[in-house]
Amino acid sequence: MTKRRFSSAEAVAGMALLLATTVTSARQDPATATAPRVIEVVAKKFAFEPARLEVVDGERIRLQVTSADGVHGLQIKKFGVNKVIPRDGTPVTIDFVASRPGTYEILCSEECGEGHESMTGSLVVVAKPKTK
Ligand code: CUA
Repeated sequence: MTKRRFSSAEAVAGMALLLATTVTSARQDPATATAPRVIEVVAKKFAFEPARLEVVDGERIRLQVTSADGVHGLQIKKFGVNKVIPRDGTPVTIDFVASRPGTYEILCSEECGEGHESMTGSLVVVAKPKTK
């Protein structure tokens, strides 16, 4: 007769799994259970390419951002986005939900040279088409 006792590591792993499952299921209502829309963005002196991103209200967005030259940043204040884009071209993944229609400024948040202040783009979140 063996009484198996869970080690504390197993207990922690179990809890983490449970927690992760709970969080995931809470977030994944059918409307958002689809894969995110992936948009590749290049940051360079002194622009974002494309400069204008258009998405639909409620969409999960995944930006894959690379720098073509030096260090830049990509900030969208409305959605709490602010990431440094390194100079080595490593893609930076930025996930957020475009949870409100409107036009929002995309800013470079790292001092990158003379054109830094003018390095902007826009995120346009259009209202969901009505389905009836
Ligand atoms: Cu790019 Cu500041």
